[in-house]
Amino acid sequence: MQQRHLDYADRVNMGAYYTQADMVDIAWEMLAPHLDRKMVILDTSCGYGNFLRHPGGFSKIGNDADPVAVRTAKKNLPEAVFYNVNALRNVSREQYGIGARAGLCIVGNPPYNDRTSLIRNRVKSFNVQIDEDIQTRDLGMSFLLSYQKLSADVICILHPLSYLIKRANFSLLRRFARQYRLLDAKIISSAAFGDASKTMQFPIVIALYKKSGEGMDYQMIRDFSFDVRGAHPFRLSDFDYISNYVRKYPAKNSGAPKNPLLFWTMRDINALRRNQTFVNRSSKNTIAIDPGKLEYYMYVDVFKRFARHVPYYFGNCDVLINHALFKKNRRHFILASVSANPALRGLIPKIDELEARHLHSSQQKIGEYFRRLLGPHYVA
Ligand SMILES: C[S@@+](CC[C@H](N)C(=O)[O-])C[C@H]1O[C@@H](n2cnc3c(N)ncnc32)[C@H](O)[C@@H]1O
Repeated sequence: MQQRHLDYADRVNMGAYYTQADMVDIAWEMLAPHLDRKMVILDTSCGYGNFLRHPGGFSKIGNDADPVAVRTAKKNLPEAVFYNVNALRNVSREQYGIGARAGLCIVGNPPYNDRTSLIRNRVKSFNVQIDEDIQTRDLGMSFLLSYQKLSADVICILHPLSYLIKRANFSLLRRFARQYRLLDAKIISSAAFGDASKTMQFPIVIALYKKSGEGMDYQMIRDFSFDVRGAHPFRLSDFDYISNYVRKYPAKNSGAPKNPLLFWTMRDINALRRNQTFVNRSSKNTIAIDPGKLEYYMYVDVFKRFARHVPYYFGNCDVLINHALFKKNRRHFILASVSANPALRGLIPKIDELEARHLHSSQQKIGEYFRRLLGPHYVA
């Protein structure tokens, strides 16, 4: 049941990208071993009720801020109970008539507006009131915190992978992470949600969380093996990252150096795909390059041009690097970067000699480097 009553701007504002049946089915398969018949199933941002269509004799509760969606959901699911409230305001079980001791399972695909994944910030003007204790910079993260506030026992929802793998986001979810543990996570592409992502795919997870005294820390996320449909599982700690070698963001209060070598801020691989690398003009988004680290920036510059070999699910990661292999091949990266940025020529000692010896083999060596760096993840 795909959304059909909202125009483009409202759809973006409300994050109203309804979920296809095959993804809903995956979520229910993941949930099955953790459910018991007495549980209440709740989707606080249910749209037309796609996640509540599953049979199984549970008592089901849906809610959406959008009254038209709720009306349709009621017609589709006469056996369920529906509410039409802002799910992020006055968050409590009472709001949905759920008892304090009832087993609660939350399902769904809350709206997200992760500024690092979606680009259409201009359309977004939706100002929703959010309880102070669950405010974050992203609606979807606030929804995650609301599930903790509702004291859900099991949660299976779709959300951007960046909530977990970006350390800054993960910290914002601290209260959630203290009480819930990720048990299973399957990565899908945002391309499955039509116009949400035509410009750039980003990874979304179907994530299963369970209440646990243990909670989870960032190291657990780094070591977590994310299931990627149709591909090799993905684990952050299998890779080394450029952020271990150079700064990604401008230094605070750094006086502008004279004639600096400048580089565009490196937020993540998707940002690199659409941004520049070396730039001429200083701005709040430029980094003054430490000349002693120039080769690492050249590496990133070349990485951008090979980024088509990097699958979408690395989109929110830092630029990957195999440090030892890079060191072995550094002259090839230097040559490739200089040939794309002639202004760098003067900075490389003996560049003519280097070119005479290696230029013919550099592209091939770099190609081999990326095949080895990415291994089973390499996109041919
Ligand atoms: C990604 S859609 C998912 C809908 C449905 N769960 C599905 O997967 O088909 C997100 C839904 O969240 C609703 N929504 C957005 N902000 C909300 C809020 N503050 N409270 C309740 N619902 C909200 C939107 O109207 C939209 O229906």
